[in-house]
Amino acid sequence: MAKPKVLVTRRWPAAVEAKMAEVFDLSINRDDRPLTASDIRGALGDYDAVLPTVTDRLPAQVFDLPQTRTRILANYGVGFSHIDTEAAKSRGIAVTNTPDVLSECTADIAMTLMLMVARRAGEGERELRDGRWTGWRPTHLVGTKVSGATLGIIGFGRIGQAMAQRAHHGFGMKILVQNRSAIAPEVLARYNAEQVASVEDLLPRCDFVSLHCPGGAANRHLINARRLDLMKPDAFLINTARGEVVDEHALAQALWFGTIGGAGLDVFEREPVVPDALLGADNLVLLPHLGSATRQTREDMGFRVLANLTDFFDGKTPRDRVA
Ligand code: DGY
Repeated sequence: MAKPKVLVTRRWPAAVEAKMAEVFDLSINRDDRPLTASDIRGALGDYDAVLPTVTDRLPAQVFDLPQTRTRILANYGVGFSHIDTEAAKSRGIAVTNTPDVLSECTADIAMTLMLMVARRAGEGERELRDGRWTGWRPTHLVGTKVSGATLGIIGFGRIGQAMAQRAHHGFGMKILVQNRSAIAPEVLARYNAEQVASVEDLLPRCDFVSLHCPGGAANRHLINARRLDLMKPDAFLINTARGEVVDEHALAQALWFGTIGGAGLDVFEREPVVPDALLGADNLVLLPHLGSATRQTREDMGFRVLANLTDFFDGKTPRDRVA
């Protein structure tokens, strides 16, 4: 039987590419430039499986072609808000993602941002590299103590819980949780966490707020001007989820006028574009979407995609089917 024709839309770790090439009739986008909508639409007509990433946009229009050959979109990443899953479903295309394997590393990056912005590490590094450091003094770049502070976690799935584990057990933080469904008492008990009813209840009580909910239309601008106003004036916002969850314009204003203490962002609304208003803010740490970027995790993500494809082409329900 002919091997399934599979398209990998970006370069992946060499070990995963090599394994995939053994199993499938594999094409790789060797230029590693984001594909255009018309490239993706063409791929849906030509390949049995397309393996997109967060840089590939698959809105409903992309699926609008006379005939699709693709039967599965096996996404390389846990977030899949760049794929219109309803449109995929209506064309009989399954969608999978890569949960679990990146939770720890993404929580590490959220902790990194939280510590960096609270302890003014980005400002300090810029000062030192620019040759502006004049030496130790008691009032120099004093920041905010993280240990023992209150952390609000919005979205308490695997990554939110990995964040709670670090913050509570490592830093003695008090954990408040907001999640769309009720969290089991034994899960909350692991982190001595309290679940609150709404984002409005959570924000005024926190010294730090970390976002771990999915992106997509339902959570677009979940953090907007009105909600930023509910945060304490010295509180910090951390986003490692999806850029669209935060209204960047409203955040830039809040940082500029000091209505919140600062923010740490790993994700942006229109990646790789970062608005000038954010680039100019000193009380902000910016990272280029590094959440899952460790060698081990990027390999694990690739092998998880492979496992989903193997399930699918063996006639089983893929283990991480999301649509
Ligand atoms: C994820 O896995 O969702 C990362 O953000 C990369 O897409």
